[in-house]
Amino acid sequence: MSSRGAAEQVLDAVVASGRHYRDSLPMIASENILSPLVRKACDSDLHGRYAEGLPGRRYYQGCDDFDTIEEIGIGLAKRVFDCSFANIQSTSGTVSNIGALKALAKPGDKITAVSTADGGHISHARMGAVGLRGLDLVTYPWDEDRMEPDIDASCALIRETEPQLALFGQSVFLFPTPLSELSDAAHEVGARVMYDGAHVLGLIAGGRFQDPLHEGADVMTGSSHKTFPGPQGGFLLSNSEDQSLQKKLNNSIFPGTCSSYHLHHVAGKVVALAEFEEFGADYARDIVANAQALGTALSSEGFDVLAEERGFTESHQVLTRHGGPDSGAGMRAAQTLEDCGIITNMNMLPGDTKAMSGPSGLRLGVPELTRVGMGVDEMQDVARFFARALIHGDDPSSVSSEVSTFKSDFQTVRYCFEEGPAYPGT
Ligand SMILES: Cc1ncc(COP(=O)(O)O)c(C=O)c1O
Repeated sequence: MSSRGAAEQVLDAVVASGRHYRDSLPMIASENILSPLVRKACDSDLHGRYAEGLPGRRYYQGCDDFDTIEEIGIGLAKRVFDCSFANIQSTSGTVSNIGALKALAKPGDKITAVSTADGGHISHARMGAVGLRGLDLVTYPWDEDRMEPDIDASCALIRETEPQLALFGQSVFLFPTPLSELSDAAHEVGARVMYDGAHVLGLIAGGRFQDPLHEGADVMTGSSHKTFPGPQGGFLLSNSEDQSLQKKLNNSIFPGTCSSYHLHHVAGKVVALAEFEEFGADYARDIVANAQALGTALSSEGFDVLAEERGFTESHQVLTRHGGPDSGAGMRAAQTLEDCGIITNMNMLPGDTKAMSGPSGLRLGVPELTRVGMGVDEMQDVARFFARALIHGDDPSSVSSEVSTFKSDFQTVRYCFEEGPAYPGT
């Protein structure tokens, strides 16, 4: 293939990918779409620029306008997340975690965290940022019924192992962490408390999940593109007035992990913060209502939805089980759903041990469906499409064409200053 042909093929695939999501039900819990104004900030000259340092203290010239952007952003982040310290430079949730682990622990320190099998993120594991920082990992006992760390056993573990850092938060995140009690145990043994709010940051800022920085977390990290609906990036947030901690947190991103920290995305993040301040409470409320409605509707259709006794979920996620442990039934369900125009991901559930071939479950998220205007009534329709795909075995091409017709009524991005096309360029 010629180099020109390669470029054209890539650009065609970019458009095709947008069309695929436009015509489908995108239900990956970590994904979202951009508002028109956020997109405008991201698609700007800032893309190619550098601003090493902090506002007013740069290593390069040319940063005056970006100083304005970052200063406004820090102020907005403090208001939106109700905290006294915010760093908005991180390029992702993982980079935020690498930075926080650098600021809060040193190689050889002990850390407690949720295991990946129980829903912890890979950056909390030896194969990820925790291993990269050379930390000694001990994982919490897990309460499978409540889908959260077993409070008494985890407090006992913290008291017994005396970690330097206690990390909380998950990728599979149905219910708020019982953080006050766990933080008390951690602080009692002199540990710092870090809460990874990557998935649930928008729900936290919208007042619909929990308030980690007022429940004992010394530092909260997060992604800026999941339930918080901005461009790809991250945050480091704290209420600590400890100047040396604040300095360490700032230094952990630049120069700790980034040189350029993607200024166009920072500008988009700031516009997203402004929009969130105006619309975030409604968005968070509607996400949680939709997730709960989806859990109820899927259960009524005959699916095995986890945590029924707790009302299925208090977040943006719902978990379904499609077979026994290590059966791979979740993997097969995800493929069938994609053939029917529904994009999800397989997920390990309690009892599963093989991450690639064994997952028996699906993790479903509603942030994007909510963002394009679907409400609790549409969650019934979505559950019916699931039943046609996975219970009744309807022909995938006819389900996918009905999904596409259904989705055609939901093509506008909402909860933002200027509503516009949700899938531009398609
Ligand atoms: C709990 C948690 N932390 C961190 C991350 C990483 O976020 P990012 O993709 O922004 O690096 C994720 C990703 O889904 C996550 O679930």
